[in-house]
Amino acid sequence: MDIKEQDSLSMIEWFRASTSYINAHRGKVFVVLLSGEALSDKNLSNVIYDLTLLHSLGVKLVLVHGARPQISAALETSGKDSQYHRNIRITGADCIETVTQIVGGESARLEALFSMGISNSPMQGSDVRLCRGNFVTAKPVGIHDGIDYQYTGKVRKIRSADILRQLEQNNIVLLSNLGYSLTGEIFNLSAEEVATEAAIELQAEKLILMVPTEGVLDDEGGLVASLSEEDAKFYADKLSKLDEDSQCISRALDACLRAYANRVHRSHLISFRENGALIRELFTRQGNGTLISSDSFESLRAATIEDVAGILQLIKPLEENGSLVERSRELLETEIENFKVVELEESIIACAALYPIGGGFGEIACIAIENDFQKNGYGDRLLNSLEIQAKSDGIKTLFVLTTVASHWFLGKGFQEAQLNDLPEQRQELYNYQRKSKVLLKKL
Ligand SMILES: CC(C)(COP(=O)(O)OP(=O)(O)OC[C@H]1O[C@@H](n2cnc3c(N)ncnc32)[C@H](O)[C@@H]1OP(=O)(O)O)[C@@H](O)C(=O)NCCC(=O)NCCS
Repeated sequence: MDIKEQDSLSMIEWFRASTSYINAHRGKVFVVLLSGEALSDKNLSNVIYDLTLLHSLGVKLVLVHGARPQISAALETSGKDSQYHRNIRITGADCIETVTQIVGGESARLEALFSMGISNSPMQGSDVRLCRGNFVTAKPVGIHDGIDYQYTGKVRKIRSADILRQLEQNNIVLLSNLGYSLTGEIFNLSAEEVATEAAIELQAEKLILMVPTEGVLDDEGGLVASLSEEDAKFYADKLSKLDEDSQCISRALDACLRAYANRVHRSHLISFRENGALIRELFTRQGNGTLISSDSFESLRAATIEDVAGILQLIKPLEENGSLVERSRELLETEIENFKVVELEESIIACAALYPIGGGFGEIACIAIENDFQKNGYGDRLLNSLEIQAKSDGIKTLFVLTTVASHWFLGKGFQEAQLNDLPEQRQELYNYQRKSKVLLKKL
């Protein structure tokens, strides 16, 4: 088979495999945030093609756009200073007109892009209707620390019934970071807030935030494919103190956490820079972004004393076949705070522990995934979560002693080491009969 035939075959296989995703997404409401940064990116037209494809497949789309960098540039050009307090722009009376012009211009530009229909382009025959209106009611942020935010506002209400009516008529609804108050004034809002509140009010299936990076990246630059609530909070806090791109991810994570707390169960962070990232995240098993979902929220958590019986049941067969060292119920009870577990439908399907050893060392132990659930990324997520915890506990080196899973750990960035690389007190406890391999990872 030549390369062309192989390509065509894998395309056919991928297209077939996407059937279940197409069926799952049809008729569902997705709220998608396009930040101002996304609107000025050169990949925007591809993002528009992909959103048009989602619409064609029956997804009900609510698009929310921002215009933060465009507003800053316009204010600078007109010699008006952007004032900030607690990281929020103060929109003075002399600025709101510029803000309205810029945001209106960006909305019109999006309308134009969705109206394209030239032949030989993915938009041919798509016939998309975008609908705008006074769907967002705003209120002023008010005065804080004696500072009046003037025309900077907050969302007071989303007219969800009106939006749903438009979606029923097969229209895409376009919202922006402008809202209108009961006094008839225009307010400058945060686009993240509009998107989040819209997702909550509409009880959307998904909140999708288009971000400048692939998603949340770990310290080595690797993509973190899914996050628990605890880990999402950790990254939101950490990234809020870094560069502009990181702050954008941090705001997106805050939006996901608020949406989750209000029963929007799946939020995705997807790159606006990478061609096709949206399609890969929504139509392939591997995905291509970071998913914050109730699956991971509900399942991965710190263990409690009530989990001891479930953990014992899970690890018993692995102790019997020698993969894990035996642990008594009493020992497990005293060490339970070192464990994290994954719970699914009220049963413990995975566990792992982190033991701080002192001297900057931490030991990963007792990692076990129930047979039927192996190769689903649970091991990866547990290890990732323990690494995050280890870092925040000041641990610099992780190690593991393993008889059967050394290659799995090597694939996660651990390296083979010698017994004397371990802290002395741990060397003394080494069981020479088990002949476990020693693996280390510098954090
Ligand atoms: C090792 C273990 C924790 C991995 O968890 P998991 O959730 O199945 O792993 P993930 O889904 O994150 O990763 C799956 C990948 O790891 C590979 N893998 C699983 N166990 C492996 C092992 N022992 N050695 C090498 N690779 C392994 C899988 O083949 C799969 O590879 P693929 O992505 O190329 O298909 C799990 O298999 C397990 O519980 N094993 C039994 C208990 C055990 O040995 N614990 C280690 C004690 S130190």
